[in-house]
This record gives sequence, structure tokens and C-alpha cells, in this order.
Amino acid sequence: MKAKKIKEGIYWVGAIDWNLRNFHGYLTQRGTTYNAYLIIDEKITLIDTVKSNLKDEMLKRISDIIDPSKIDYIVSNHVEMDHSGAIPDIMGLAPDATIITCPNGEKGLKAHHFLGYKYKVVETGEKINIGKRNLEFVLTPMVHWPDNMICYVPEEKLLFSNDSFGQHLASSARFDDEYPLDIIMLEARKYYANIVLPYSKPVQKEIEAAKTLDIEIIAPSHGIIWRKYVKEIFSEYIKWASSVTEKKAIIIYDTMWHSTEKMAFAIQEVFEDKGYIAPVISLQHNHMSDIMTEIITAEYICVGSPTLNKNILPTVAAFLTYLQGLAPSNRKAIAFGSYGWGDKSIPKITEYFENSGFEIIDTFKVKFIPTEEYLKNMQETLNEKIK
Ligand code: FEO
Repeated sequence: MKAKKIKEGIYWVGAIDWNLRNFHGYLTQRGTTYNAYLIIDEKITLIDTVKSNLKDEMLKRISDIIDPSKIDYIVSNHVEMDHSGAIPDIMGLAPDATIITCPNGEKGLKAHHFLGYKYKVVETGEKINIGKRNLEFVLTPMVHWPDNMICYVPEEKLLFSNDSFGQHLASSARFDDEYPLDIIMLEARKYYANIVLPYSKPVQKEIEAAKTLDIEIIAPSHGIIWRKYVKEIFSEYIKWASSVTEKKAIIIYDTMWHSTEKMAFAIQEVFEDKGYIAPVISLQHNHMSDIMTEIITAEYICVGSPTLNKNILPTVAAFLTYLQGLAPSNRKAIAFGSYGWGDKSIPKITEYFENSGFEIIDTFKVKFIPTEEYLKNMQETLNEKIK
């Protein structure tokens, strides 16, 4: 297992989790990487580590360049265990090394029982000289966890961006010009939609800070390293963080006897006639983390469920719970569904919409099976309301 040179004296020494398919509920169908980076300078510096089960892979890559016992600094940009999990292994080999982290990072690492180590705590704007290079830190709390920070190396125009700009994507390619760009962008969008989205405000602050830096390479904690398409991913991040939507309506549903499904397709027709991109997505066949990838750019979110036992179908409830947690802002919503005798699905769906802060445009319910006439009326009503 070889290290991969990023620049003279700087190497990727992370691990590739080829077969990971579930990252706490996120379907990682292309696996992932945990990116650690080694800087050879007067002070040998390791930027982050990997998930503990892959520590040997990281240690082999470090050993390809240098004896791991020579590491002086471990920069911990993020406490989450997929990045800090192998810190004890490095500290076991290099017990005199110092962990550089922010105040919340120190608290978090100690709460993960990383005790008895030397810590150097940094704040935004602080610089640490490691020889020919400097490490400059910007704290980015809540760009996932309270302890996130990013680290910039001005001499190399290199940003270690932590969770931002990452993707769950396992590959032998390390750079964005070595892998199909559309797949990297799709996975970056999925990562944003499922992990970073609730923290869009802190991301906006991070973007403002990053705009002041001269960046040639973005090295995130997961996936491919950006060197050719830095501007492109940056401009996507600006859009995602500020909830810029497209002319897109997403119609998500589950159904028992196809009545709610008929309503879904009737709603889709209205949007399509108005020139919207309008995918119809059944919760029986699609993973909610993939649906989020679509939702991030959708102006309208339409959700349908029949009533089941005074409630909605569990698939729809699970999806709405997930959506509410991720909290995309500035969205319009439509609820729809069929019922047999107790029409309970619409109040349940709209309650989720209200808790998510969506603007409810309309709701549609039908007893048992929608007639052609009902569907036509529903379409006419929607036609009036959608610009
Ligand atoms: Fe892969 Fe928030 O960490």
C-alpha cells in the first residue's frame, strides 16, 4: 500500500473503504475513503487519521514514506471517529507527538477517551510553523460537529477542508482529473445533501473565509482531491449552501393499492407541462439518501401517502423524519394521499412540512380510488397555483 504524492513532500496516506454501503443510514453505494495526509517538513505532520479498523492501511502508507514514530504533529480537524479513530495508534508509535486541535476538538477528543496526550489548542487565525511551511487554522464549528476546523498551507495553496467538499467515493484515483467528473459531483452533492445540509449557515461562513485564500488544491476528509475543478465545486457549494433551487419538483410517495400512485403521476404531469424537471420517486424502490440528492435543488417537494391505521405508511414517515432533520430551507410543498375511512395522512404529512418550515401550496386527498374527474380537477387546481 503506497502513499500518493499530492505535492512535493505532501502525501495522501488514508484508507479506502471499498465495500462500505451504510454510513449511519446513508447508502454509500460507491464506498468511501478516509483521507489522512502526511507533510514532510522539519516537523513531520499528519493531517487527520482514519477509521480505526483501517489503521493498518494508513500505517503502511505512512511507512512507505517515513517511520510513523517520527511524527511530531497530528492535526485533528474533526473528532468524528472516521477521522480520529486511529489517533491512539499513532500516539502509541509516536508518544511524544502533539495533537493540534481547536478548543471543542480537545474537549471532544478527551470525551472519546483520548487522554494523556499532549494537546496544542488553536483558534481561528492562528499559525503554526512546521519548517518551510505554515499551517493556518480556521475554526468552522458545526460544519458537521462543533469541533470542525480547516487547515490552510499558504506556501502550497492547499486547503485541508475536512468534511466540506468531500464525497463518499472509493477509488484508486485520488484527483478530480482522474475520475469521471459527473460522478464526483453527484457524490459531492449527495454528501452535502445528507451530511452538510443542516449546517448551511456555518458553511456560508466557511465559504467567506475560504474566499480570502488563494487555493489551488482542496483536500477533503473523504473522497477525491480537487485540483482541476476547484472553482466548479466551490460554486456548487455556494449554491447548495444558499438553497438555490432549480425549476424542479420532486414527487415522492408510497402506495397500497395504487390510488396515491395515480395522484403522484397526475401531479407530475402538471409540473412537466410547466417545464419542470419532475421525477416521480417511489419509496418502495429508492433509498432516502438518494432522494435527498435530488431534493437539494428542488423548488417543490410533493409527498404522498395513503392513510394506514390512522397514520401514514412507515416508509413515508421515515423519509419525512429524515427530511425534517436535514431541513432544506426555502421549499414549497404539496401533500397528497388516499384513504378508506379515516383521512389521517394529510394532517400527518402537513405536520412534518410545518415542522420543516416549508410553504404548503396545497393538499389533496381522495376516498379509496381517484376518478378521472377527480384527477383532472386536481390538475386544474394545481395548474392555477404553480407559476
Ligand atoms: Fe467523516 Fe463528520 O465526518
